[in-house]
Amino acid sequence: MNSDKPGILRAITGVLLLVASGPLMAADDRCSLTIEGDDQMQFDKDEMTAPADCAEVTVTMKHVGELPRSAMGHNWVLTLPADMQPVVSAGAKAGLDKGYLPPKSDKVIAATDLVGGGKTTTVTFKTDDLEAGKDYRFFCSFPGHSATMRGTFRLE
Ligand code: CO
Repeated sequence: MNSDKPGILRAITGVLLLVASGPLMAADDRCSLTIEGDDQMQFDKDEMTAPADCAEVTVTMKHVGELPRSAMGHNWVLTLPADMQPVVSAGAKAGLDKGYLPPKSDKVIAATDLVGGGKTTTVTFKTDDLEAGKDYRFFCSFPGHSATMRGTFRLE
């Protein structure tokens, strides 16, 4: 009878450890941002900021429209302001299959997948190489979309 006790204690301890580690594993809410894209080729914000002490930032982009990825795909791409156009051009060449992003580009700081209406996509990126107070550019790299779907990202 008593021989079961350690097993039960171990099981209880295991559950408690799982519960305790939950919040520690979760992303820091202050460092998680959300943005929406729609069928009118618009993001719902043109400025996004995160606290400068965020080691990582998570951006969740929700496509609240209904049009398919091939017609109205959206992603959330982060670059230096001057790198937006080169990345958009290289992305257009890469094509839809590559999510309209150059497969390997050191100009892309972060990028989500390209998704269609009703879908949500997330990217988490380290901020080590980002400068606080400096303006970065976010945009959608689907051909033509960065004309309206663009904004400023800053750590502050
Ligand atoms: Co788009």
